[in-house]
Amino acid sequence: MSAGNKRGAFIVMEGLDRSGKSTQAARLLERLQRADARVKLLKFPDRTTGIGITIDSYLRSESELDDRAIHLLFSANRWELASSIEESLRAGSTVLCDRYAFSGIAFSAAKGLPYEWCRAPDISLPAPDVTIFLDITPEKAKQRGGYGEERYEKEEMQRMVREVFQRIGSETSREQRWVVVDAGQDIDLVTEDIWRIVEPLVSGVLGPVTRLWE
Ligand code: TYD
Ligand code: MG
Repeated sequence: MSAGNKRGAFIVMEGLDRSGKSTQAARLLERLQRADARVKLLKFPDRTTGIGITIDSYLRSESELDDRAIHLLFSANRWELASSIEESLRAGSTVLCDRYAFSGIAFSAAKGLPYEWCRAPDISLPAPDVTIFLDITPEKAKQRGGYGEERYEKEEMQRMVREVFQRIGSETSREQRWVVVDAGQDIDLVTEDIWRIVEPLVSGVLGPVTRLWE
């Protein structure tokens, strides 16, 4: 990273289950490392923390929780890492994040909770410099070897999740960029599309870390 007052870029990847998000995040990580960027890869939910263990058990249907309670735990799981995200960015690392607050809203609102209520606990989290939405139809996602066994991996649920993601994208400000990538195309083409978006950010970005929806 060049000198001056640049900080690391905060890049978020979002998408439906089976959209190829984790595969593409791993490829992007490798490419960033080759481009000589210091980079940290995070994933939400982070199932390793105390809160994360509770979330993991819920997702695997080993426990039941009120819809609002689990929503707040997903948000708390981000807040417990918020200061470390900010520190990494200030120290000049690129932070790449597999899911973030947008998944929090999309999955809970798809269950029927009010959109604004879902957004509220994530207000003021560190804001990404760009969010890459890997867009795929639920039908096509399902064809990719089918969904796993976790709680939300059902076609009807994913259809509603996609609609909420589209609303989030349409309401995202120009500064907090939301970029849609066609995740239904050939896997290498998806990787190239993502790299075109990310490459200009590798050398860092100017200005302070902003906050979500402030
Ligand atoms: P996922 O990224 O699919 O984990 P894995 O790669 O291990 O399958 O995340 C698990 C599920 O959690 C996924 O269906 C989306 C959901 N989710 C929420 O409901 N709220 C949130 O805030 C987040 C981050 C994820
Ligand atoms: Mg999943």
